[in-house]
Amino acid sequence: METAIRRPNWLSRLNAVWAPPAVLDFWLSRLNPLWSWGHARARVIELHPEADGVTTLVLRPNRHFRGFRPGQHVTVGVEIDGVRYTRSYSASDMPRADGRIRITVKTVEGGKVGAFLQTIPVGSVLSLGQAFGELCVPDEPAPCLMLAAGSGITPLLSLVNAQAAAGFRRPVRLAYWARTRAQLVQAEALRAFASRHPNFKVHFMLTGEASQAADELEGRIEPRHLTTLLSGDEQAHVLACGSYGFVERVREVLGDRCLSFRAEAFSPPPRVIDASDQGHVRVTLLKSGQTLDIPRNKSLLEALEEQGVKPRHGCRMGICNTCACGKSSGATRHLHDRSVQHEPTQALRLCIQAAQSDLSLEL
Ligand code: FES
Repeated sequence: METAIRRPNWLSRLNAVWAPPAVLDFWLSRLNPLWSWGHARARVIELHPEADGVTTLVLRPNRHFRGFRPGQHVTVGVEIDGVRYTRSYSASDMPRADGRIRITVKTVEGGKVGAFLQTIPVGSVLSLGQAFGELCVPDEPAPCLMLAAGSGITPLLSLVNAQAAAGFRRPVRLAYWARTRAQLVQAEALRAFASRHPNFKVHFMLTGEASQAADELEGRIEPRHLTTLLSGDEQAHVLACGSYGFVERVREVLGDRCLSFRAEAFSPPPRVIDASDQGHVRVTLLKSGQTLDIPRNKSLLEALEEQGVKPRHGCRMGICNTCACGKSSGATRHLHDRSVQHEPTQALRLCIQAAQSDLSLEL
């Protein structure tokens, strides 16, 4: 693993008097881009094309990265044409002894960061957030049904690899939806697991091509698929990952066939904005001393960015907590369920809250 600067606490305190960490980080990164006084960074050491528009990056983090659990995500930061961007990606493999982490990146239409990462030179250094996310396989030994659509496969690959390392001690079935065969990621590795472990089965669900192989089925998820995935009146712990629409459809189709249901969507639910969300409010940024007028019909993150303020952010959909900041006063409205919060908080997520009244924020 590459170098990060480790220092005892007394040295941190002394340093805080001598020079702010941001200044030290600047000079350390001039000596070696991976060096930092306190921030996780990672060097890109391998790139593996996986499928149409999909590439896996192998990253070697510095010692500030605290590791991850299968199913978790990390926030990656890159600079493109002088502008800093951050995006969240799932780890696509389980943790390994060498500390390396794999993320699998897909190009999306108009998406700058995905396209940039797919051709990033080996040796480049990225900033890395600490891992987050709660998707996991429950401990009870009941069957586990994993359902993935498109990029939703990445955290499930990490979980399948972890189950494989443990010898598939419980029945695990994976159904993986893609439009075409060429878009499937790690199909052969999954087939290899299935051929070696009777407790693991994989089904590739194609929505834009006819099925050909014995482990392929056609069509979007519907009740008839359950008879293939679950035998008789069998129930399973279900993990689902895909777009918001996919996850909601899975929930609907499964009904009461699951012992537990854990899901992660990589797209947010539709935002509920109505005619009453008009006008502007005054936002006071307590740390910078700025006062701004922002619209009530946008997320606080978007509204602040339009005014030239650049809060830290990652997923932009309320998962990673990167954008959380304190709110000392005022009311905000949740953009997904329209609930209104009047109380002061330390953890207001700017990407999924809109201003309801004048606000004071710890920014
Ligand atoms: S940016 Fe991830 S929670 Fe707001």
